[in-house]
Amino acid sequence: MDSKVTGARVLLCVSGGIAAYKAAALTSTLVQRGAVVDVAMTAHAERFVTALTFSALTARPVYTTLWDAPEQIPHIRLVRQAQVALLAPATANMIAKLAYGIADDLVSTLLLAARIPVLIAPAMNEAMYEDAATQANLAILRARGYELIEPERGFLAEREYGTGRLAGEERILAALDVALLRSRSLAGKRVLITAGPTREAFDPVRFISNASTGAMGIALAREARARGAEVTLILGPTLLEPPGDVATVRVTTACRMHDAALAQGESDLIIATAAVADWRPAETSPSKRKKGDEDLVVRMVRNPDVLAALAARRRAFVVGFAAETDDHEPAARAKCAQKGLDAIAVNDVSGERGFGLGENALVLLWGQDGRLDLGRASKPVLAARLLDEVGVLMAARHGEA
Ligand SMILES: Cc1cc2nc3c(=O)[nH]c(=O)nc-3n(C[C@H](O)[C@H](O)[C@H](O)COP(=O)(O)O)c2cc1C
Repeated sequence: MDSKVTGARVLLCVSGGIAAYKAAALTSTLVQRGAVVDVAMTAHAERFVTALTFSALTARPVYTTLWDAPEQIPHIRLVRQAQVALLAPATANMIAKLAYGIADDLVSTLLLAARIPVLIAPAMNEAMYEDAATQANLAILRARGYELIEPERGFLAEREYGTGRLAGEERILAALDVALLRSRSLAGKRVLITAGPTREAFDPVRFISNASTGAMGIALAREARARGAEVTLILGPTLLEPPGDVATVRVTTACRMHDAALAQGESDLIIATAAVADWRPAETSPSKRKKGDEDLVVRMVRNPDVLAALAARRRAFVVGFAAETDDHEPAARAKCAQKGLDAIAVNDVSGERGFGLGENALVLLWGQDGRLDLGRASKPVLAARLLDEVGVLMAARHGEA
């Protein structure tokens, strides 16, 4: 059977629910399909199944505490070695800990330290699953880009029917296949991303800028990195932190962003999310302008078009972003054609929608009539959807070449 898990390194985290016994069966299937499985268990999971069972199935040590061989810093080593982590079964408790960044045992600590895709398969009593706290915690994890493998309705340990049964093995294996495919989808590719606003000063303390925070570009940089790309992020002024494992060039003005972007070598993929100021003040006063009674008239001159310059001078697959307040799609499609882009993601920014850390809604357009509604979701989730589709378009272009 053609399975992506063959040869893959999978970190299976088991927390303390009845369905822990199913994690043992899953481990056996993964091993039979050729995966290298490291298992980490919580102390409560060990009440249900012994570490010995997993150790015998994997022919590898099983990890149950932060404090065995601490000189090897197991929580970092285990997530670095793995390509994908799977929390199955995920207890209500572990879901809550992950949502709030609590790291008080091996499993919660290593999941917090993971930069690899993390799949979460909840399993619990229906009342626990439906509780508002659990649902809110799951929503937090979903918005952060964790892959949730929803539980099923069926016979529960309490001898009742309800929702909360661990997803069936085939669904978990299919989700692992997708995550592994994604995790390598940009392996060996160079990706250049521009993000954030620019600032155009008219004196040392005043500037013209916009509401962009760089959140979308940062989410894309993180997602591209997680898919194996070598990522360079050209980032305008923002308080948001870029991912630590992404080469980041900080810039302030549109001119600097233009120069920094064009100073980069050839890339395979360029995604321009930056909200680059179209104009800058013709003159910048070297000292703070004194306030008088008269109005201030500032003459603005055109900034270089970073996106058009990149599209004209690079062979990469170029994706632009269009933030429009009206007539979105025709305007974005026209921009795509006029600048020679391969695709454009359009979002409605009327009323400052689309800016900041909240949800966004994107539609991807390409060619004459290519269109995919990526829906409304958190920026990490949209970043994953966008890169899935861009991967398909890049492969199609490669096939044509
Ligand atoms: C018999 C029994 C079955 C349990 N089954 C579940 C379960 O299926 N899902 C769940 O979230 N918690 C379940 N619990 C509660 C958890 O074991 C408990 O919340 C524990 O603190 C989880 O610890 P952990 O997340 O560190 O593994 C069960 C408890 C007992 C005693």
